[in-house]
Amino acid sequence: MTTNTTNSNSPTLRVALIGLGAIGRVIAQELQARASEGVCLVGALAQHVAEGEGQGVQVLTELADLLALKPDLVVEAAGHGAVKAHGAAVLRAGCDLLLVSVGVLSDSALQADLEAAAEAAGRQLLLPSGALAGLDYLQAARMAGLERVCLRSRKPPLAWRDTPAEALLDLASIKTPTVFFSGSARDAARLYPKNANVAATLAICTLGMDATQVELVADPTIQGNVHEIEASGAAGEMRLQLNNTASKDNPKTSMVTPYSVMRSIMSRRARVSV
Ligand SMILES: NC(=O)c1ccc[n+]([C@@H]2O[C@H](COP(=O)([O-])OP(=O)(O)OC[C@H]3O[C@@H](n4cnc5c(N)ncnc54)[C@H](O)[C@@H]3O)[C@@H](O)[C@H]2O)c1
Repeated sequence: MTTNTTNSNSPTLRVALIGLGAIGRVIAQELQARASEGVCLVGALAQHVAEGEGQGVQVLTELADLLALKPDLVVEAAGHGAVKAHGAAVLRAGCDLLLVSVGVLSDSALQADLEAAAEAAGRQLLLPSGALAGLDYLQAARMAGLERVCLRSRKPPLAWRDTPAEALLDLASIKTPTVFFSGSARDAARLYPKNANVAATLAICTLGMDATQVELVADPTIQGNVHEIEASGAAGEMRLQLNNTASKDNPKTSMVTPYSVMRSIMSRRARVSV
């Protein structure tokens, strides 16, 4: 829980965005609506200035120009390519970096680079809960000893367009839920970079990329994105199912995701934060 009471004694948190797609646009609107709560959206990096039309935010196309606005925190909501291109530079410039495209950390060399940049600059790499829940419990349970963690992600067939699932299934005609991937969180995140960020987030919070098991399912019986977590260990068992509404702008993305980013940001401003 994060209270609405903000800490008025600390300076305004200057936030910059990378990406103004389905997630970035909601974050931009929310930050602007909360300007009285100690947060300020200083600018956004996009591939084209036109992406920012009507967003009320200064749009830049060069990272150096974004960093010149002196953000305290840069929120990436653009994709794996943007993290590879800009992640370490953002941290080295002295900003905290909140990554929405968490699946990029399935590349262990990149993860090491980002951690080294964060360490050298004394900044933090932050990951939001995204479309998932229960990560607080699971991180506590991990300390007690976790033995097994599985994630099953079900999305409507068309949400798996433009992914390797297209070569495995006829997405337009399947009539029953069909598992097309079963393997490690690392492979899920690597093969399905736009769909399996949750697998990476869960893995980082629990048994790691190689021991966390993932199933991906094309399910014509559902509308939104369903994530089911099963975990067991010394602390007990968890079974959790989320029936997420899909973003109206991107069926691969859950509507809650930008709000999970906002929760992370606003918790830095709150007097009471859990
Ligand atoms: N952590 C989670 O739980 C979670 C959940 C859903 C989506 N995601 C991830 O979040 C990211 C954004 O998702 P989305 O639904 O907003 O996608 P989107 O496709 O709607 O928007 C991405 C935007 O980023 C822009 N972009 C791409 N490369 C860029 C670059 N180098 N510099 C600046 N802008 C760039 C694109 O032009 C586009 O406007 C994706 O990587 C997605 O996989 C994470």
